[in-house]
Amino acid sequence: MRQIWTTKRGGPEVLEVREAADPTAGPGEVRIRVKAAGLNFAEIMARIGLYPDAPKLPTVMGYEVAGVVDQVGPRAEGAPAGAAAFAVGARVVALTRFGGHSDTIVVPATQVAEIPAALSWEKAAAVPVNYATAWLMLVHLGNVRSGETVLVHAAAGGVGQAALQICKWKGATVIGTASPGKHARLKELGVAHCIDYTKDDFEPAVMALTNGQGVDIALDAVGGKSFAKSYNVLGSLGRLFMFGGSAFAPGAGLNPFSIAKAFMGLPTFKPFKLMEANKGVFGVNLGHLWDKTATLQGMLKEILLKVEDGTFDPVVDQVFSFADAGRAHERMKSRQNFGKVVLVP
Ligand SMILES: NC(=O)c1ccc[n+]([C@@H]2O[C@H](COP(=O)([O-])OP(=O)(O)OC[C@H]3O[C@@H](n4cnc5c(N)ncnc54)[C@H](OP(=O)(O)O)[C@@H]3O)[C@@H](O)[C@H]2O)c1
Repeated sequence: MRQIWTTKRGGPEVLEVREAADPTAGPGEVRIRVKAAGLNFAEIMARIGLYPDAPKLPTVMGYEVAGVVDQVGPRAEGAPAGAAAFAVGARVVALTRFGGHSDTIVVPATQVAEIPAALSWEKAAAVPVNYATAWLMLVHLGNVRSGETVLVHAAAGGVGQAALQICKWKGATVIGTASPGKHARLKELGVAHCIDYTKDDFEPAVMALTNGQGVDIALDAVGGKSFAKSYNVLGSLGRLFMFGGSAFAPGAGLNPFSIAKAFMGLPTFKPFKLMEANKGVFGVNLGHLWDKTATLQGMLKEILLKVEDGTFDPVVDQVFSFADAGRAHERMKSRQNFGKVVLVP
């Protein structure tokens, strides 16, 4: 099999395509011939050296794939329903605990879901992480309702686009932050108000846009002082979701000054203040839910039904070959992507 190795910390040049022997599906597992794999911001942070969950380098990153099941392991004794319940030839997506940037991967069948027949491989690869993360925050935990207003940071990114589609489905209004070149398309896609965070402070901008009422939900993967500001723009009964820290790496590489600045900006939340304000704060990390695969698999199935009926339409930015993985990383890190960056073997 061919895989993209992150050989050490550094720039995109540390990525290498290497050959290895094909793995074999064990009990409760399936082997997938990968047609497309999603690139996530986490993998860029891992290459830079800013992702605490990354396996020890050198390693093969990759949290999600789309492809064809070509081998089914024996059903493990006492295995949960869904384990190894796929037929050879099934078109699937899978959440992968790393290793997804491979042309072949073995995963527990509990992390796999079948995809609609008409869905392209590239769009399918854009579903698992982005939609599961957005669903977890907006549907599973946040219970977004019709008439509510949601602040979505990086609204043109992978998670941002999934969040926008969930909000539209639920009848919620989205205020999005993004680089200015993305605003016109965001508005076409249904973002009510765009904020250019490169120029404007989003805190007063959101308060002005909501006539001082604030928003009902804020999705913040920027981190640092952005968490505090996103909390400040919540109205009563508001929910803040903290799920990333792009502020720790504003430039191309590791910068101790940016790391220290982002740490210094992190807020502390006081229980009685939260009670008085009727506000809630959540931390979300999909990569720490491997003990909840049944929940994740159930969410994936629900999401894929919404993809099948056209409610959700995964936005693919650009497709890169494995050999071009460095360019794929650069595109995302330099804030050029609109939607999901996809890798194909
Ligand atoms: N906790 C979880 O379970 C989980 C799961 C998935 C993703 N995440 C997090 O959610 C965020 C979005 O992830 P994604 O994979 O969908 O990526 P993404 O949003 O497509 O990431 C790239 C975009 O982020 C924006 N951005 C903001 N700050 C940036 C920075 N310092 N460097 C580069 N780009 C920056 C840029 O858009 P603009 O210039 O338009 O702002 C860029 O185009 C990431 O922080 C990621 O780590 C967390």
